[in-house]
Amino acid sequence: MTVFGIVVAAGSGERFGRPKATIELAGRPLWKWAVDSLLSGGCGDVAVVGEVPGGISGGVRRRDSVAAGMAVAPDGATHVLVHDAARPLATAELVGRVIERLAVGDVDAVVPGIPVRDTLKSVSGETVIRTVDRTDLVSVQTPQGFKVGSLRRGHAFDDDDATDDAALVERSGGMVVFVTGEGHNLKVTYPGDLAVMEALLS
Ligand code: C5P
Repeated sequence: MTVFGIVVAAGSGERFGRPKATIELAGRPLWKWAVDSLLSGGCGDVAVVGEVPGGISGGVRRRDSVAAGMAVAPDGATHVLVHDAARPLATAELVGRVIERLAVGDVDAVVPGIPVRDTLKSVSGETVIRTVDRTDLVSVQTPQGFKVGSLRRGHAFDDDDATDDAALVERSGGMVVFVTGEGHNLKVTYPGDLAVMEALLS
């Protein structure tokens, strides 16, 4: 098993006034946090997609950036982990857990997920239509792991609504499973999220 890592760090970062991945958390840029956890969790080699030192050019959509990373995957790579630069707090243990489950060999993709805690409502404007049963719902994170062939088949699928790579694999008929994610593995979406992460680290 040879695992290649892709950190997606492109995109406009318009809420931050500069590329989001270059923002520092505890003195280390977000993209570097993501690279370090992939390397210490078991990836042999990691490519960064985005405007960061040593990074390769990204694409318009997140899936295009992932495809740019796949284009530089070494020939011998059997599996790939795709990780958001915007999730700096994923641990090496989580990376290891995803790789371990992939290594069993019976699935196309592995995603980290955590049970949904809040009550969920379906709404239309301000009107609540109904309460959604959350029993079978998990909230999904990165790093997401794939067999290289399965991710390539997923990416051949034309689906602009897919919000992650696992969705593409699901829609191409692949088997996707989840492992337990991490509550602190939050995604930096708004500038205020950084203060929350600084607090978590201290
Ligand atoms: O925008 P969002 O927070 O959903 O992005 C998730 C991750 O995907 C971020 O790490 C971002 O840098 C990356 N991304 C990318 N290329 C894009 C859009 C997002 O690499 N075109």
